[in-house]
Amino acid sequence: MNNKSPKNIFQAFTKHFRFHSKKEEQGDEMEKIAAQEQKVFAFETLVSATKDFHPDRKLGQGGFGPVFKGKLSDGREIAVKKLSQNSGQGKKEFMNEAKLLSRVQHRNVVSLLGYCSHEEEKLLVYEYVANESLDKFLFNSGRQGALDWKRRYDIISGVARGLLYLHQDSHICIIHRDIKASNILLDDKWIPKIADFGMARLYPEDQTHVNTRVAGTNGYMAPEYVMHGKLSVKADVFSFGVLILELISGQKNSTFNQDSSSQNLLDWAYHLYKKNKTLEIADPVLASSADPDQVAMCIQIGLLCVQADPSLRPTMHHVILMLSKKHGALNEPTRPGYPGSRYRRSRRPNASSSTPGTSGRDDSQSYSTTNSNSASASAGASASTSGTRSDSRGKRPMESWNN
Ligand SMILES: Nc1ncnc2c1ncn2[C@@H]1O[C@H](COP(=O)(O)OP(=O)(O)OP(=O)(O)O)[C@@H](O)[C@H]1O
Ligand SMILES: [Mg+2]
Repeated sequence: MNNKSPKNIFQAFTKHFRFHSKKEEQGDEMEKIAAQEQKVFAFETLVSATKDFHPDRKLGQGGFGPVFKGKLSDGREIAVKKLSQNSGQGKKEFMNEAKLLSRVQHRNVVSLLGYCSHEEEKLLVYEYVANESLDKFLFNSGRQGALDWKRRYDIISGVARGLLYLHQDSHICIIHRDIKASNILLDDKWIPKIADFGMARLYPEDQTHVNTRVAGTNGYMAPEYVMHGKLSVKADVFSFGVLILELISGQKNSTFNQDSSSQNLLDWAYHLYKKNKTLEIADPVLASSADPDQVAMCIQIGLLCVQADPSLRPTMHHVILMLSKKHGALNEPTRPGYPGSRYRRSRRPNASSSTPGTSGRDDSQSYSTTNSNSASASAGASASTSGTRSDSRGKRPMESWNN
């Protein structure tokens, strides 16, 4: 058949015409697709998903605002973090976090489904993680039993893998900066997912640390970060170490009162370790499920992570090796970093350190934690003695993201 018959030419013309008449519609469609790819949610969608941010839907209140449970029209459950207008975050910083998060994909890191910026409102939309956060189990005597040793050990390993990914395996190096029990979410199979990159920043690969203003939560922050604003992956390693010791003891470092002769959980754990009574720090509810060798190994790893000198702390890569027992004998931990303790740099344990790759930089540094700033806001400090700005939740908000 001749394609150039008048009929076909007419058809081609009308097709072309139809295409143009639908152009606007298709443009709208393209915009929708683009919006989806950029993970932008319409404010109205989030209003209806959360029943207008109904108080019954509130999951919790963080330093940057409340979090609400919601359900999208397609049935997906979501957690919407509504950033308070006084959080100090500008629109640009918010977009930064959202973009950063949307590129991060790992089994042990919570997914950001999208975000929304509507007039003064800024919202982050996360996948809803069924069992919510670790702190709700760990520090609640009625619910601690849900976390037997295997679950706690799997949480330690999963968080270690998630952090390794953020530090090393993601296409960008991300320091989380606020690793703590409330930022570890547990899914329906108890798989831990690291939440909340509100504090996360890009970490330039050509630098050993970045200087920044202190933001974090009391009880979890590394002394060099509190005192000198020195943020490196080792600050996350420190917070991870606190988390391990909290997971094993069931005690919260920032409100520790188990032993009057110890200043905090880290001090208590270290002294028991030194007296060969390591297992005494374990939560009594673990008695029936604990594997003593594994518990002892994890306590030692926790103590290695909270050492005062960041260069002695293992990287997350070494933590994974230690957990997988492919590492041989573990090093002896030196004193933990916490307020009121005076750190004097000891000689490196030996040349064949169990933390290979952690260079011996900062050799001349000594972290005296006796100044008022550090004594008020470091690892085990009580927030009430703080001379520095922190809120009732022990949180030290960032002054600015652009420093
Ligand atoms: N994706 C989620 N799925 C289920 N629950 C969540 C989710 N995100 C947050 N939550 C719940 O909401 C609570 C508040 O979260 P939010 O991150 O705002 O506060 P926070 O972690 O206590 O403090 P911070 O502001 O320092 O992170 C969490 O403790 C958690 O229980
Ligand atoms: Mg959080």
